[in-house]
Amino acid sequence: MPEREAPIIYEPVLDSTNLLLKALAERGAREGTVAIASRQTAGRGRLGRSFQSPEGGLYLSILLRPDCTLERAAGLSILAAVAVCRAVREATGLQPGIKWPNDVIVDSRKLCGILVESAAEGSGCRVIIGIGINANTAPEDFGEDIRSTVCSILGETGKRTDTRELARRLIRQLDGLYEQWKSGSSVLDEFRGLCLNLGREVLVRRGEGRKALALNVNDDGSLRVRYEDGSEEDIRYGEVSVRGLLGYT
Ligand code: BTN
Repeated sequence: MPEREAPIIYEPVLDSTNLLLKALAERGAREGTVAIASRQTAGRGRLGRSFQSPEGGLYLSILLRPDCTLERAAGLSILAAVAVCRAVREATGLQPGIKWPNDVIVDSRKLCGILVESAAEGSGCRVIIGIGINANTAPEDFGEDIRSTVCSILGETGKRTDTRELARRLIRQLDGLYEQWKSGSSVLDEFRGLCLNLGREVLVRRGEGRKALALNVNDDGSLRVRYEDGSEEDIRYGEVSVRGLLGYT
């Protein structure tokens, strides 16, 4: 692969790596620009939630400018989850899985969250993929509200991770998978193989939760579910949250 030309910006503390990239994108930052922090003071999560980002994690965002519709760009969420699984596997030997749409899970707990923020730009779009990996964090670094649902590489392996090395591997995976995605090749089959929900019961949380069976990940990345009354629906990224009935997944 050719040497990457876009800059990698590292700051020990940021409000949010996604927010920094958004500001830089508005000033014309080049595609592939990466922002990394070791702590965030205003980490952003999916569905308007905040993302607890204590010291010791790897918080990384990348700016992409694909020449496609917003609908197609939604597929980049899948690519990001697969990139994280590969990088964590390579760096640590752990075998993560994915809770649809893109939480990365080890041992039934969340190791990593991913937030994809997209906007139309010219004839294509601007996409910021933000990834937060609990690398060298301990349970007490998190609020009591989420302590039992998160894990970290340190907790799972007993070893501290070199977050720079993990970042290097992650960027290599993101760059490589993005090149493949642009040329039309898909990582959906790999994603399906990693997806922990398939064939299991999920709770589709839109207002009151509704039990369903997760049937498949469709080609556009949406999750096909079947409710108890036999009706089926495709759940799209950003619409609802999906919880397993047993444990976190
Ligand atoms: C979620 O689990 O709800 C998604 C969390 C995404 C967190 C990452 S950390 C790096 C980037 N910057 C942010 O403010 N959010 C994302």
